[in-house]
Amino acid sequence: MRIALIGYGSVGQAFARLLAGQRKRYPFRITAIQTRKHTAYDPQGLPLEPDWGPPAAVSEFLDRAEPEVVIEITSLNPVDGEPAISHIRAAFARGLPVITANKGPIAHAYAALRAEAAARHILFRFESTVMDGSPVFNLVRNNLPGVTIHGISGVLNSTTKVVLAEMARGRSLAEGIRLAQQMGIAEADPAYDIDGWDSAAKTAALANVLLDADVTPQRVDRAGIGSITPEQIRAAQAAGCVIALVSRARREADGSLTLTARPEWLPQDDLLANVQGTSNVILLHTDLMGTQGIVSVNPGVEQTAYGLFADLVDIAQQL
Ligand SMILES: NC(=O)c1ccc[n+]([C@@H]2O[C@H](COP(=O)([O-])OP(=O)(O)OC[C@H]3O[C@@H](n4cnc5c(N)ncnc54)[C@H](OP(=O)(O)O)[C@@H]3O)[C@@H](O)[C@H]2O)c1
Repeated sequence: MRIALIGYGSVGQAFARLLAGQRKRYPFRITAIQTRKHTAYDPQGLPLEPDWGPPAAVSEFLDRAEPEVVIEITSLNPVDGEPAISHIRAAFARGLPVITANKGPIAHAYAALRAEAAARHILFRFESTVMDGSPVFNLVRNNLPGVTIHGISGVLNSTTKVVLAEMARGRSLAEGIRLAQQMGIAEADPAYDIDGWDSAAKTAALANVLLDADVTPQRVDRAGIGSITPEQIRAAQAAGCVIALVSRARREADGSLTLTARPEWLPQDDLLANVQGTSNVILLHTDLMGTQGIVSVNPGVEQTAYGLFADLVDIAQQL
């Protein structure tokens, strides 16, 4: 199967390494790559470090690449999800299935993209967008038939967890941010994590897919951790609580949606309070299956790459 990658940063390169390791069992070949600065093509399959040619517009790239699947893994634009949304539409216009790890399109335009894919009978997958490749969307699609999800809660932003843990040890907000940056987990602009935008985008993406919403991150009732003081953290500890930036989405009985991404005081024995370091947890509150949880322990870029791979296997089985 011929694959075109749009974006070849940490995730793209981890994905290429994963495919190289699985080649004997899975006949997937990356035959074209487009980045902002350059392109590469080889119908026989590109090496991990291709010889680069000049940049190209996405339409020119896809027309020359003639892939069977497109993987969109360009940098996140938290404001409106572009140009990733346009990249996905360019692939759809050519009848091509798309996989993305970029939460921008899911947080900003999922309902429209889903409708466009369905109208053209095209598969569209995005497992790695919210929890670094852990099965969330595919778990629901494949293993929870007939289930209605009425609520979602999760602690999904690693940077704020690391920063708050550092502050609980007596360090400052700035020192916590520096540590998160040294660990390589903070967004390029850490304000995106600290101000709660990353959590709001994940809340919107989860609501759009699992609660059949059509919202953007701007619709989420959002607050960051920038104004939390060491005194508040100590007061929470004294009360047997942990402060965490929690994402919540709930479909109310009247059909309305409540969406929040805010710091909360969680009792120490709350499941959401018990994921350490860069680990994440998400709980799905359902009608037929009670509450189901997914925990990812210290995920890295290899897990994000695996989510793309799982989506690819899913698509390959259906083509
Ligand atoms: N890193 C993770 O662990 C992780 C986890 C979950 C989801 N994600 C998501 O996965 C995506 C990729 O992440 P990453 O860590 O691989 O990012 P990255 O290392 O910053 O790489 C981004 C890539 O996208 C390319 N790019 C940017 N704008 C482009 C455009 N307009 N057209 C074509 N290519 C463009 C860049 O090209 P140039 O180098 O030429 O500028 C680069 O190759 C992001 O949306 C991120 O939010 C990442």
